[in-house]
Amino acid sequence: MASHPDKITEYFDSHAETYDEGGASVRWMGGEMLRVILRSHPIVSVHSMLDLAAGTGNATKVVEEFVRPRHITTVDGSQGMLDQLAEKYNHDPRISLVHRAVGAFVAESNKQHDLVVCVAGFPFMEDQLQVITDTGRLVKPGGPFVFTYDSHVYFHSEQAERTVSFPLGLAVYRQSPGEIDKAVQAGGLEVIENLQFIARDKQEGERDPPISGIVMAQKPKL
Ligand SMILES: C[S@@+](CC[C@H](N)C(=O)[O-])C[C@H]1O[C@@H](n2cnc3c(N)ncnc32)[C@H](O)[C@@H]1O
Repeated sequence: MASHPDKITEYFDSHAETYDEGGASVRWMGGEMLRVILRSHPIVSVHSMLDLAAGTGNATKVVEEFVRPRHITTVDGSQGMLDQLAEKYNHDPRISLVHRAVGAFVAESNKQHDLVVCVAGFPFMEDQLQVITDTGRLVKPGGPFVFTYDSHVYFHSEQAERTVSFPLGLAVYRQSPGEIDKAVQAGGLEVIENLQFIARDKQEGERDPPISGIVMAQKPKL
């Protein structure tokens, strides 16, 4: 797990059992936005799906409201989160669990998938632009890649901090929509949508609520 920062693993391992309950206090809109984008860009059939930074499998659950993939590969650096995922899906034989850093996985894997998703994962990766570019290789021609990111573009003219600290001193890295588009295109995909949304209510001391983005990208058909 060399390229997966230990602090992130430690944080998610120790919060794995209560992770799904935690959403109630801070309502982050990422999962809902995934639903919104899948409604406006229907995905008809998915044989094989890849869920990066899958955690407890929430993004996969949303995808399954639309399609039923035959195989789902889930990758996460936290074994605790993957254990919760396996339990939530009753050890569904369609699901493979990969305990690995996402960056290392996308750099080394050679298997292509009909659909790739990553919800609330890239902001924890300092090298996320490279990881987004590398992920392009794992998308089948014609297939979508849907992911969220944290944006550093705020409502007011000033820009938000590029790096924010999370509990336990974890860093969360924000990007601009333009940087994200470039990273997607460098991986050989087209950006179909790059929508900004209010990520959650603002908290004490914040001037504005934070903004996240959701991207629907597609690899051109052969
Ligand atoms: C906020 S959770 C999101 C989980 C899930 N996608 C969801 O929407 O609920 C972030 C997940 O990303 C994983 N993660 C963060 N950075 C990672 C990295 N570099 N490699 C592998 N997993 C990572 C964490 O272990 C955690 O499970």
